[in-house]
Amino acid sequence: MLRSVCGKRLAACSVGSAVSVRRIATSGLRAYQNNQGNVVDGFCGAVGNTPLIRINTLSDETGCDILGKAEFMEPGGSVKDRAALFVVRDAEQKGLLKAGGTVVEGTAGNTGIGLAHICRSRGYRCVIYMPNTQSEEKINLLRMLGAEVYPVPAVPFDNPENYNHQARRHAERLDNAVWTNQFDNVANREAHYQTTGPEIWEQTKEKGLDGFICGTGTGGTLAGTTAYLKEASQNKVQCWLADPPGSVLYSYVTSKGKEMKRTGNGSITEGIGQGRVTDNLKPDVEKLDGALHIEDEASIAMIYRLLDEEGLYIGASSALNVVAAYRMAQKLGKGKRIATIICDGAARYQTRIFSKKWLESKNLYQAIPENLRHYAALP
Ligand SMILES: Cc1ncc(COP(=O)(O)O)c(C=O)c1O
Repeated sequence: MLRSVCGKRLAACSVGSAVSVRRIATSGLRAYQNNQGNVVDGFCGAVGNTPLIRINTLSDETGCDILGKAEFMEPGGSVKDRAALFVVRDAEQKGLLKAGGTVVEGTAGNTGIGLAHICRSRGYRCVIYMPNTQSEEKINLLRMLGAEVYPVPAVPFDNPENYNHQARRHAERLDNAVWTNQFDNVANREAHYQTTGPEIWEQTKEKGLDGFICGTGTGGTLAGTTAYLKEASQNKVQCWLADPPGSVLYSYVTSKGKEMKRTGNGSITEGIGQGRVTDNLKPDVEKLDGALHIEDEASIAMIYRLLDEEGLYIGASSALNVVAAYRMAQKLGKGKRIATIICDGAARYQTRIFSKKWLESKNLYQAIPENLRHYAALP
């Protein structure tokens, strides 16, 4: 079976005993060690252990190895499956969620999609609040997965009507319900400390790893992976932030915490960019060695380049990460090995990022190299 040859899959729930609902794992996820067989236990057992893809054209061009963790191969289609699994397990283990309960979350989409899958597989109801700026594809998918979805106006975190606060209040109104609070619930960071970090370390152990870089939404991926890689390498792996326009974290990291200014205006990337340091990012933000601000023009162009040259069909936050890994490679010099995250696939955004009209409305159509514009096949 090809997937098991590639190192797929992490036996997430398979090590636990089924105690209630449909299945609740009682023991922890242990990356790799449990992945001895071809059969995994249900949806949750299929989370993790994604391949690490050498992006050949960019690697050859930079004289480095640019490595993308293929999170679009997660069972729910994104890196957020890991966080979703960990926040649900955390709630179960703390006794906050019992058989037949309800999971409520505020999410730009992918965590909600992971949660909706996990809720179906474990017999919970799923309620999702999300900013109404998110793609129609994600909203529709959530509904098809049986979630109750509330798209609400996108307002800042300090506004009580922000989607996260609405999610918290919804959970408070119900019995046997939990607001999984992905932004500040450190079970999210733990998912990446226990799985993403160890997997990347294991996958690069033969030839080594010099750098890791990715963007942040909740900060869970960057923080947990950085924490693990720093520990495992005795601080040798450089870990950097990749930040989109409109986020404050580039200024925060490059000023070593002295400033928190937005760099640029908003971004077309979804799921990343932050206006604050979340509890997930806080423990590790000082470990970061640098930050790169990536403009939307470069991210859009990379989506099309990776499709044309590598056959990879990836979302905009993933493309931003790959641009960042490319630039980090140029900064670190030839011969280095840089890993990043391919967070999800393009299908979730295709009516936007492959629509000529939409791209033009964002002044991004011209950013696509002329010979690649034919891929913008949607009106
Ligand atoms: C597409 C996409 N990329 C990246 C991220 C950021 O991951 P994290 O929340 O771990 O910082 C998210 C988070 O929702 C996402 O949906």
